[in-house]
Amino acid sequence: MDVVIQPTADAACRLVARVIAGELRRKPHLVLGLATGATMEGVYRELVRLHREEQLDFSRCRTFNLDEYIGLTPADPNSYHRFMREHFFDPVNMDLRQTHLPDGCAADLDMECRRYEEAIRRAGGIDLQILGIGKAGHIGFNEPLSAFRSRTRVKALSPVTLKQNAPQFVDPSKMPRRAITMGVGTILDTSRCLLLATGAAKADIMARAVEGPITAMISATALQLHPRCSVVVDEDAAARLQGVAYYRWTFENEPEWEAFR
Ligand code: GLP
Repeated sequence: MDVVIQPTADAACRLVARVIAGELRRKPHLVLGLATGATMEGVYRELVRLHREEQLDFSRCRTFNLDEYIGLTPADPNSYHRFMREHFFDPVNMDLRQTHLPDGCAADLDMECRRYEEAIRRAGGIDLQILGIGKAGHIGFNEPLSAFRSRTRVKALSPVTLKQNAPQFVDPSKMPRRAITMGVGTILDTSRCLLLATGAAKADIMARAVEGPITAMISATALQLHPRCSVVVDEDAAARLQGVAYYRWTFENEPEWEAFR
């Protein structure tokens, strides 16, 4: 794992977008794993800018989102289908047939989870997975005690998640209590991972996720086992990390980051 600290949330989002752009230019058929949440809006804004101003081409890109609420149709304003279309898919030249999110309205949810895993496998696996982090340390909707070998499945949302995400709903009491999410094992199988966290509210959980002991109580700690995972944070989210001097040296000196300094 490596940690990249950027001065501001904007700069952190731009760096993540530039990594995605770099991978996409190298491999136009990139299989990109995507995340939702307020943190990601800045990343998608920058990708849209790169598309409009620098002709970044998404036409051959294939995408798989981490998760979707159960019971929300794609048209629901709170669905992740809708979030993705609004913030990313519609403003760029993405082929919608190549975008994938779990269907939270499927009649047979277990079969939908198996179908999703199979679709990822048929695409050749995920080349680059983008991740946010919940306040209690979930990645996707892998709530506390998610098995590190778990695959895409239905997960009941924890009280912390219900509290964190309910304000986004027009009627918070209508927030679904379950979601379909890629498993921790699905995420660990991706070729490369980028976890983005910004703001002081994420400082505690980032210290535990990056430098704390590996535990199923905090699914983000599983990323310590991923062979190629980078964590991108702004100064606020980095505030409680112990090893910042080392992380800064690595970013300034490792050839892998040369194009991004
Ligand atoms: C939701 C998503 C997560 C995401 C989290 C962070 O819970 N299921 O994948 O990481 O939101 O949200 P925010 O960026 O708004 O803090």
